[in-house]
Amino acid sequence: MNTTARLNRRPEWAALGTHREQFAGTHLRDLFADDPQRGTRYTLRVGDLYLDYSKHLVTDETLALLRELARATGVAELRDAMFRGEKINTTEDRAVLHTALRAPRDAVVEVDGENVVPAVHAVLDKMAAFSDRVRSGEWTGHTGKRIRNVVNIGIGGSDLGPAMAYEALRAYTDRDLTLRFVSNVDGADLHEAVRGLDPAETLFVVASKTFTTIETITNATSARDWLLTELKAGQEAVAKHFVALSTNEEKVKDFGIDTANMFEFWDWVGGRYSYDSAIGLSLMIAIGPQRFREMLDGFHLVDEHFRTAPPEENAPLLLGLLGIWYGAFFDAQSHAVLPYSHYLSKFTAYLQQLDMESNGKSVDREGRPVDWQTGPVVWGTPGTNGQHAYYQLIHQGTKLIPADFIGFARPVPGLLPGLVAQHDLLMANFFAQTQALAFGKTAEEVRAEGVPEELVPHKTFRGDHPTTTILAGELTPAVLGQLIALYEHKVFVQGAVWDIDSFDQWGVELGKVLAKRIEPVLTEGAGGEQLDGSTAALADVYRTLRGR
Ligand code: F6P
Repeated sequence: MNTTARLNRRPEWAALGTHREQFAGTHLRDLFADDPQRGTRYTLRVGDLYLDYSKHLVTDETLALLRELARATGVAELRDAMFRGEKINTTEDRAVLHTALRAPRDAVVEVDGENVVPAVHAVLDKMAAFSDRVRSGEWTGHTGKRIRNVVNIGIGGSDLGPAMAYEALRAYTDRDLTLRFVSNVDGADLHEAVRGLDPAETLFVVASKTFTTIETITNATSARDWLLTELKAGQEAVAKHFVALSTNEEKVKDFGIDTANMFEFWDWVGGRYSYDSAIGLSLMIAIGPQRFREMLDGFHLVDEHFRTAPPEENAPLLLGLLGIWYGAFFDAQSHAVLPYSHYLSKFTAYLQQLDMESNGKSVDREGRPVDWQTGPVVWGTPGTNGQHAYYQLIHQGTKLIPADFIGFARPVPGLLPGLVAQHDLLMANFFAQTQALAFGKTAEEVRAEGVPEELVPHKTFRGDHPTTTILAGELTPAVLGQLIALYEHKVFVQGAVWDIDSFDQWGVELGKVLAKRIEPVLTEGAGGEQLDGSTAALADVYRTLRGR
């Protein structure tokens, strides 16, 4: 019988509830007025990241109560169990060891009594050797031409990570190589990706942990057909133009890819935690093995910080607890991630899977319904674009939306000299937004500007909107690794407190099964009677519009 106290029956939870009531009416303006040091006191440094959490609706007491909650819910114990390789993903009976993917060569991390680190480095070495061959032109296609285009075919964790990191690290990529990412089963995605490419110069990287995901296998099959048709070649051409990233050797073989060209990873790497595994091969080809290793070192630095830093200085713990505070006690439903870097255009989309697939759960580890908020809706796009779109709602709408602002002191290397000066304007906006969100503009301040009385409410900014500022010198591979690990562990902390399994994703299964059932209804008109009334009628309309 389970004896664990449920989260919202814990005294630490009740204490936070009482504290929240006392907190009502305290504005961020008051918190800064009460403590002039707040802007420097509520900060942390982790590796290259400077983290300012002073613009949060918290006091020393709030933070202490939140840390108490983390202590009571066993966050540190679960963290240590994860790092030890215990099977903390209980519904799939799997260890959760993405941290082993960036462990140094001499580290020891055991799963079922076996040290996995040598295998991790063997795959990294194999990836590095292959990347070097592609980058140098030594690896040639079926007709002997060197590879100039790499098309990654994968979806979810087998796409979002490398696609996001490729964008993020463009300044470090070999600009003579074209990288494209295909994920959607909508044929338009592959159509546009191969458009204009010479098949003789194109390498397809088929990325799928299971090698059974219908979108990926369908796209990979179509890509193979395209290649062989265009090259007027037989199956023998596949070996030079297709490589696989997977845990499933059998299925890779069945597809016709030479397993010598398969880069392996393991079931203890979750899809959304996998881009620093073999799943990063296309990224490694683009940025080179050395940069890839720098990125892994960035991840590892934050892993070590999370594992060893005391609670008061532990950045992922802090960020996780802040999110719990707003979700549970301010009814915040969403969390905005707003990078002030064009190169981070896919960063939030990547975090959506990381966070929402991990913590979008409504039963606890024992399978009992939870009675508290779990993962938020994560959203956002790079600044300054959002400022001219949806920031209005954050500033003056009715919702509390905690937001992370991520910015860099220097633009990426190699930017056209004439554009470097724009960086200060970008960052002036970055700082202005968190200032406006926190402190707002009172009615008195508006009136003092001579604004007519009827417009005063419209021009008033309530402020009091919480934000975290994450500032780094430059967006390098190491900094990207640090940022991603920071979010990975933040998600971990929240799942641990909420008592959910952050490492399964059963919620994606039903749709997959139903799609398989519906496809023959659309193509052959067969089996519609088994569908519900709405879906059956929609399928009929679809067939008519499709001319069937
Ligand atoms: O969407 C479900 C999911 O299993 C993700 O967790 C995963 O990243 C994605 O599908 C792709 O899976 P695979 O790498 O096995 O093709």
